[in-house]
Amino acid sequence: MKLAIGNDHVAVDMKNEIKEYLISQGHEVIDVGTNNRERFNYPVSGYKVAKMVAAGEVEGGVLICGTGVGISLAANKVKGIRACVCSEPYSAQLSKQHNNSNIIAFGARVVGVELAKMIVDSWINAKFEGGRHQTRIDMIAEIEETGELKAAEE
Ligand code: RB5
Repeated sequence: MKLAIGNDHVAVDMKNEIKEYLISQGHEVIDVGTNNRERFNYPVSGYKVAKMVAAGEVEGGVLICGTGVGISLAANKVKGIRACVCSEPYSAQLSKQHNNSNIIAFGARVVGVELAKMIVDSWINAKFEGGRHQTRIDMIAEIEETGELKAAEE
């Protein structure tokens, strides 16, 4: 799988370990940075990875900051992005099966490296199930496109 990975200053070590792990598993990984351990504003890497995913340049993205929250919030502002913060493998798997997440995020201050490997494995190996889940994703897209949701008026 071709993936983009990005992080902030808190998550440099975690990013490098997960990047190496993904490469060892046969994935192609594009690292948008940062390697700055002092100060780095997470919206920059969240935006870069999200744009690559939305443009189809990569098949998915991995984002890591202190909690995974800020960097996923930034990514989710890019149209077509469904970035999910997951601190354990079950949610990571379901985020793909039900929510068709195209970016997985987690926190370097929240999970250890071995758990992070399990999270990315679960997410990568899961497949979107479609069907009723597609209907719900279409609703999310409707909110994104129009700022409204017709089903909420019924
Ligand atoms: C940086 O201090 C921290 O705010 C950031 O890594 C992240 O946790 C934000 O959501």
